[in-house]
Amino acid sequence: MTSPPNDLLTRLRASEQEHVLLDWDSLDNDARATFVRQLAAIDFAQLAALRARVNTSADAMPANFAPPHVTPAAFTAEEKARGADALQRGKIAALLVAGGQGTRLGTLQPKGMFPAAPISGVSLYQLHAEKVFAIGCRYTHKLPFLVMTSPATDAPTRAFFAEHEHFSLVPDQVKFFQQGTMPAACPRTGRLLMEAPGRLFLSPNGHGGTLTALAESGLLRELAARGVEHVFYFQVDNPLVKVCDPGFIGRHLATESEASSKVIAKELPEEKVGVLVEVNGRCSITEYTQLPKHLSEERDANGELRFRAGSPAIHLFSVGFLERVTRTAAGALPYHAARKSVAHYDPHTRTMVPAPPAGEPNAVKFERFIFDALPHAERWLAVETPRDEEFAPIKNATGPDSPETSAVAQLALYAQWLARAGVETNGNLVEISPLFALDEDELAAKAPRLPAITEMTILN
Ligand code: UD1
Repeated sequence: MTSPPNDLLTRLRASEQEHVLLDWDSLDNDARATFVRQLAAIDFAQLAALRARVNTSADAMPANFAPPHVTPAAFTAEEKARGADALQRGKIAALLVAGGQGTRLGTLQPKGMFPAAPISGVSLYQLHAEKVFAIGCRYTHKLPFLVMTSPATDAPTRAFFAEHEHFSLVPDQVKFFQQGTMPAACPRTGRLLMEAPGRLFLSPNGHGGTLTALAESGLLRELAARGVEHVFYFQVDNPLVKVCDPGFIGRHLATESEASSKVIAKELPEEKVGVLVEVNGRCSITEYTQLPKHLSEERDANGELRFRAGSPAIHLFSVGFLERVTRTAAGALPYHAARKSVAHYDPHTRTMVPAPPAGEPNAVKFERFIFDALPHAERWLAVETPRDEEFAPIKNATGPDSPETSAVAQLALYAQWLARAGVETNGNLVEISPLFALDEDELAAKAPRLPAITEMTILN
């Protein structure tokens, strides 16, 4: 290929993106062909429209929203039994989103590889995989464990699982699939950023990309063919998540909900969690960056935050809902623009531009959010779960939501389980592996056989 195809040149000119070809002459034939394929897949008009919206309030909240109807997570025996039965009959799959890069955490590896358990230091991936394994044993059915990665996290994630022999899961039980990508643009000029000569700078297209990736990978069809009817969705950063909580599944089934979400009560207006709201009778999540300050601070007659239904990003979707949404709406979910600092290649100066300090973003990235699918659910459910039982995310290197705060919360929960089971810890720290006890009831059942705890202990 000596020169770029004419139709590509026309599209690049029309969208003022010709700078991407400045290095054309230095590329070999293979690199040229690969680059032309990459550019052919880009919708330049869509990107221009998205960037134009960056400084407008297009991401603002809908007008007529209200706090949602929330049910407390005191699940009945019937709900738990119903969920257990669905797990036993192979109706449930677990889906972990692990495509994000741990930039805020300051790690270059996938976040899932981060040491998360308070004493053993086992990784987030291990904790999640062991919960899936333990559920498989308890309900005598090896449920599918879907792990969504991105180009940056895919290879190291697969290698990590392989290196750890899939944490005892059957390799076929773990299904990796990759989310899509989106180009990034300079916020000032709108020019697309480059990663290297002949290669656009791409970043993951947000966890909203789960939907199209599930369908395009064929996994959604495979789940349906295997008789899976509901998918439990969770994020990699929360070691306390009750993966495939039977009570939650049971209530989701009993209410014939298409999309169910757990919520935790927001404690402070500025807490960085999305909030569930109800808009025209439908469920919606407004991201913390979009909730106006006066609304985040508004209090009800009891003095509680009015918009306190914080999202720990734990959902249950029916496969029918996922099929409908991927067929009709997934490709149309909005893109949210975020300003970020990134290192990239400048084809004008032929040099690498280092990432500027945080707070001086030089790129606009575009992401879809999974929760923008929620308003498409005809029937939905919100269940409030106690924060200390289910939410201790690891997001920042220090301060709130850091490894330190998460470790404290994990140890506090295990101490509570042990105290309620009448186990004397003599003030020693105890970590409980999911392989030893998935929940408080299992721990209580094993408590009478526990030896005296006389030092820092890991029960596994
Ligand atoms: C997220 C939610 C927020 C919620 C909070 C709970 C968004 C936009 N916001 O905030 O409403 O209250 O978690 O902890 O998600 N991911 C991908 N691919 C991507 C981007 C992210 O798989 O392209 C995954 C990450 O690996 C992570 C999760 O999505 O597991 C959350 O992403 P992150 O950007 O860390 O969201 P938060 O700002 O923490």
